[in-house]
Amino acid sequence: MNVSMERSVPVWMASGPVADAPLLRSDEHADVVIVGAGIAGLSTAYELMRAGKSVIVIDRGPIGGGMSSRTTAHLASALDDFYHRLISRRGLETARRYFNSQAAAIDRIEAIQQHEGIDCDFVRLDGYFFLSPGDDESLLEQEIDACEQIGFNGVSWVERAPVPGVDTGRSLRFPRQGRFHPRKYMAGLARAILRDGGRLYANTPVTGFQETADGVTLTAGHGHKIHAQAAVVATNSPVNDRVAVHTKQPPYRTYVIAGPVEAGSVPDALVWDTQEAYHYVRIQPTGGAEDILIIGGEDHKTGTVHDMGDRFAALEEWTRRHYPQLQSIEYRWSGQVMEPVDYLPFTGLNHGNTHIYIHTGDSGQGMTNGVAGAMILRDLILGLDNSWAEVTDPQRISLSAAGEFLKENIEAATHWVEHLTAGEVSSTNDIQPGQGAVIRDGLKKLAVFRDESGTLHARSATCSHAGCVVHWNPFERCWDCPCHGSHFAVDGSVLNGPAISPLAKADYEE
Ligand code: FES
Repeated sequence: MNVSMERSVPVWMASGPVADAPLLRSDEHADVVIVGAGIAGLSTAYELMRAGKSVIVIDRGPIGGGMSSRTTAHLASALDDFYHRLISRRGLETARRYFNSQAAAIDRIEAIQQHEGIDCDFVRLDGYFFLSPGDDESLLEQEIDACEQIGFNGVSWVERAPVPGVDTGRSLRFPRQGRFHPRKYMAGLARAILRDGGRLYANTPVTGFQETADGVTLTAGHGHKIHAQAAVVATNSPVNDRVAVHTKQPPYRTYVIAGPVEAGSVPDALVWDTQEAYHYVRIQPTGGAEDILIIGGEDHKTGTVHDMGDRFAALEEWTRRHYPQLQSIEYRWSGQVMEPVDYLPFTGLNHGNTHIYIHTGDSGQGMTNGVAGAMILRDLILGLDNSWAEVTDPQRISLSAAGEFLKENIEAATHWVEHLTAGEVSSTNDIQPGQGAVIRDGLKKLAVFRDESGTLHARSATCSHAGCVVHWNPFERCWDCPCHGSHFAVDGSVLNGPAISPLAKADYEE
């Protein structure tokens, strides 16, 4: 099981499975084992196989069925957190290298889809940042200056962004961005991996990591072992780690709506505003009389709100003002992004390990970070230099982000204190069919779901990763952990790491 079992269905799912893959049913050996069959995991496998390595990719759910299917698949070298902020937090050279990695990632996707003949609707297009009401134009002025400093050529002012319903005023245009269909692209990667002898295993959770002097042994599924010289953990939030990286990247839920517009009526561009949280917009052509307009936004820290209905209403209201062409809303879904306190992903050797690498912390740049991360991991595993690896090193200490780090961890601590507070409802009578709530049961807190027939399903509300109290997500109908982004199904099964064990069973009688 994984997040493909959450209730909402992204627009991309209509393209069918990314790849069929069996369960792991025997012990296996490979040069490299990769945990997580999303954009980062499949791209890393592809890169390593080009370099002659034997590779296994394993996932707790279907291939490509994790957060990579819940993206809107903007291919952006523009930075959603802004380069001028990255420069002030991490310095000019870091910002320059990071920009180069993102531009190279788009180039790499373009080259691979061409070389492998992957029909994934890839196109180059422009991206636009426009100001939200109340934001100062100096924000954009600082950003265009920063782009010039880091060598992002061609960023320019335009009189207005291509947003049909409003006059956005002066905006920034970013050339050579891109878009694609993420599942079609991942399907092409999977085909190439299988063609060249790579092995994919689906629906097989990894439950243990053991590092030895010359490699690593993973335990997965029903206790089968995978032995490899190196392991890469490329899950949304790393499943091999209890603390280190998790204190540096809080999880956020983000929301997306999509629906038809007359083909060609909305310009083919990536568009973002400067609101906090920002909106992000693109189209996906269908090849027919309609394009699909895709709009995201309304982010919040995972597991901290229950007002998803209001968030979708706000997203629709914003969309109808800015894109009156939208005919109807056919899709609503949510995803989760990890937001590093110093803006950049964590790609490289995991803290305390010599053979286990991680990729996480994609923020709003999941597709480009995943592909750039694959190139970094390839080089690190091959023992080659990579000038981007230093800026994404998971073991880095960013003193300039210390305040943000402290704030996030004080906030996380409040979720442990919740063990002492009252439940969300005082009685299970207050839980409607199809909904859940955390209740207090003596000294314990329980996560209780009432199914449509009225039967209660109770599990411990203590997250099996590191003990925070989980919260009900009424939209996806699952339990979300606010600390590090684990999700659990109503029967307690893990849908998203870092947890690897289910919520504990609980005896509860109404
Ligand atoms: Fe770490 Fe829940 S995800 S405590």
